[in-house]
Amino acid sequence: MDKILILDFGSQYTQLIGRRVRELGVYSEIIPGDSPLSETHVKECTGIILSGSPFSAYEPDAPIIHSSVYDCGLPILGVCYGIQRMTLDARGRVAKLAEREYGKKTVAVRAGIEDPLLKGISPSFVSWMSHGDSIVSPGEGWEVIGDSDGNIPAILRHTKLARWGVQFHPEVSHCEFGTLLLSNFVFGICKTKAGWSMQAYLDQEADKIRTAIQDRPALLLISGGVDSTVAGAFLLRVLGPEQVYLLYIDTGLMRKAESEEVMANLARLGAKHLYKADAEARFLSALAGVTDPEKKRRIIGDMFITVQEEEVQRLALKDAFLVQGTLYTDLIESGKGVGKKAQVIKSHHNVRSPLVEEKRRKGLVIEPLDRLYKDEVRALGRLLGLPESVVGRHPFPGPGLGVRILGAVDREKCDILRNADAVFIQKLRELGLYDKIWQAFCVLLPVRSVGVAGDERKYGYVAALRAVTSEDGMTAQVYPFDAADLIAISSAITNRVPEIGRVVYDVSSKPPATIEWE
Ligand code: XMP
Repeated sequence: MDKILILDFGSQYTQLIGRRVRELGVYSEIIPGDSPLSETHVKECTGIILSGSPFSAYEPDAPIIHSSVYDCGLPILGVCYGIQRMTLDARGRVAKLAEREYGKKTVAVRAGIEDPLLKGISPSFVSWMSHGDSIVSPGEGWEVIGDSDGNIPAILRHTKLARWGVQFHPEVSHCEFGTLLLSNFVFGICKTKAGWSMQAYLDQEADKIRTAIQDRPALLLISGGVDSTVAGAFLLRVLGPEQVYLLYIDTGLMRKAESEEVMANLARLGAKHLYKADAEARFLSALAGVTDPEKKRRIIGDMFITVQEEEVQRLALKDAFLVQGTLYTDLIESGKGVGKKAQVIKSHHNVRSPLVEEKRRKGLVIEPLDRLYKDEVRALGRLLGLPESVVGRHPFPGPGLGVRILGAVDREKCDILRNADAVFIQKLRELGLYDKIWQAFCVLLPVRSVGVAGDERKYGYVAALRAVTSEDGMTAQVYPFDAADLIAISSAITNRVPEIGRVVYDVSSKPPATIEWE
């Protein structure tokens, strides 16, 4: 299958480039920006896209493009930092702008220019900019063929080699003709054959998993979310019910009625070996008094594995493979799949736990979804015949309510949050908003505020509502509720959950905030 390679220099939009290419029906893979290209890379891929970066290309420790990228002869499209870096490497000049170009900017193609990258694109269009540096003089062999309304070079091409650069971000949905520009590059210039589909992925992964696992047992930890349920359906389809062991650990950090729903869904999938470990007391006692978010995540992650290993021993599964529902974005956000300089934003426990790493070293971890984005996992779930009520569910993080109760976690707070969250979600369904929102949930704040109940003063908890739209969780926008809906949600929560005295709405986008609060 042809693929487009994306070299990641740490931009918040790199994932979007990957998704856009896949939406064109072409497999995309993201590798650290400074990696050398292997022979396999060159053989398998048809073109290279260089991402943006938080670095300035002229900084001494800015990530470099390895010479093998230039030597491989494949077409290259540099986006933002990508083109600035290519400019410097070709002895051009990049300098800081007096004022950063950010947001929607009109780009005009220079008169008389015809170029395969711009086929079908209007000579003047609205682009999306996000840069503080600019190309002052193009590199040797390069020419500017389009400029922004601030008179800044916006589109460049090499006069002899198959290389292009854009200062704007064609991958961002606000960029007019952005998808067409990427499609021109992928198909028109790189001559890539589209071969990426969920069916293709299913077939490919099925073969890989059968070869790796053979007749040994495959154990999947089910968290109840979309990902692990799809992973479960996938395993059952590929290996059949005899070989597949599904273990659901009830951490006590799940949403209302979630455990019952999860078990029922799995039973419906035809699971034969379906186990539930009730570990609420252990999780809550390990978490008692712990307030540091990263520590909480670590405790939950380690307890998960401890309980899992005990259960595995109890099940006496010899040489069992551990199957995880890890997604592409989980790897990226944990600083694993991207540039060396990528930061660990949050330690997603299903990736970094030392115990999982040990299984990994033994070659006993399989992650069948680890090249998929969330919406692709949903598409795979549909292909596997899962109902919309399962695949359309909002994402739920592995550490569950543990990262939605700020500060110390206890049973009482879990119950309060469970109740408030259930009311919120029910209201969203009643208002017909659930499917318009990518993820919605309540957060319980570690403060109490004054209120009145009847004639009495009461100190109630504060619940924060979070509701965002997003494409894949990498960036997110606040859902713009009608004020009347918000007020209705707020009174439903305070009426039905007496411990909550006040409801607030979180209006922060990601970035700079993350979707979860911890
Ligand atoms: P953040 O809070 O990082 O969340 O903006 C992005 C998406 O990831 C989910 N999330 C997690 N999922 N384990 C998971 O499986 C985790 O530790 C974790 N932390 C965040 C979050 O709910 C959102 O959908």
